[in-house]
Amino acid sequence: MTYLMESDEEVRRLRAQASANSYADRLRLTGLGPGQVALDAGCGPGIITAEMLDVVGPRGRVVAVEPIAEHLAAARALLADRPNVELLQAALPTLPLQADTFDYVWCQYVFEYLGEPQSALEELVRVARPGGRVVVADIDGVGLWNWPFPEDLQQESQKLLQALREARFDVHAGRKMFHLFRRVGLADVRVHVSPFYVAAGAVDSRLHEDWVIRFRTLRPLAERAFGGVAPYDAFCQRFLALLDDPDTLKYAIVLTTEGVKH
Ligand SMILES: C[S@@+](CC[C@H](N)C(=O)[O-])C[C@H]1O[C@@H](n2cnc3c(N)ncnc32)[C@H](O)[C@@H]1O
Repeated sequence: MTYLMESDEEVRRLRAQASANSYADRLRLTGLGPGQVALDAGCGPGIITAEMLDVVGPRGRVVAVEPIAEHLAAARALLADRPNVELLQAALPTLPLQADTFDYVWCQYVFEYLGEPQSALEELVRVARPGGRVVVADIDGVGLWNWPFPEDLQQESQKLLQALREARFDVHAGRKMFHLFRRVGLADVRVHVSPFYVAAGAVDSRLHEDWVIRFRTLRPLAERAFGGVAPYDAFCQRFLALLDDPDTLKYAIVLTTEGVKH
C-alpha cells in the first residue's frame, strides 16, 4: 500500500487539518447516534474517531482501521484512555472485519487516494449491517476555486493535477460517490455539501502551513511535470502568495455522501 502524501510531517498535517473543524454535527446529520457500533475506515491520527466516540457515548463502540503504522500509533496515543474503541492495522479494500457488523461506516479523505474506488466501497457495504449507514466524505477540486486566479497560474495548476492523476490521486473523488453509491445498490442516497476551507482574504497560518507541506511532499512527483524543481518551486511560491493575498477568495468543498444498506 502506498500513500501519496506520506512524509514525516503527515501526522502533524492531518492532526491540524482534522482539528480545524468539528465533525459531530456532520456525523449526527448522516445517522451516527448514541449506542451505535461504528467504523472509521482510514482513521489517520484518530481525531475524528474521538468525535465518533463522543457521539456514540458509553454504550456504543468504534472500530478504527488505518494502514500506516505511524498514523495508527498517533491514534492509539490519542485514544489510549477511551475504553470503547478498537484500532486495527488494515487497508481497503480488504478489512479483517465480519460482514453485517456496523450500524454506521465512516470514511473520510481516503477514496481520493484509491485508484479503484468500487471495490473499496463494496467492502464498506459488506461490513455494514442491513439497515446500516455507509458515509463517504471527500474533496472536490481542492486548490482550484480561487478568484482572481491568474490564467497562467491556472494553467500551471493543471500540470500539478496531471501529475496527481498519473499517481492515481482523484481530486474529484467527492463528486463521483453519488453514482458509485447507486451502482453498488445503496438506498436513500443523499449528498451534503460543506466547506473544506473558506478564506475570504489571506488564509490563516494553519492553512498556509498545510499547503507548504503538501507542496513539499509532492515535489518529487511534480518535478517531472514542471520540467525541473526550479519551475515547480516558482509555481508553489506564486500559489502561496495567492493564498496570502488579502484581496482574493479561496475556497474548497467536501461532498459527504450517505446511503443505507438493504
Ligand atoms: C487524508 S488522511 C484522512 C484521515 C482521516 N480520515 C481524517 O479525515 O482526518 C487519509 C488516510 O487514509 C489512509 N489510507 C490510505 N490508503 C488507505 C486504504 N487503502 N485503506 C484505508 N486507509 C487508507 C492514510 O494512511 C491516511 O491516514
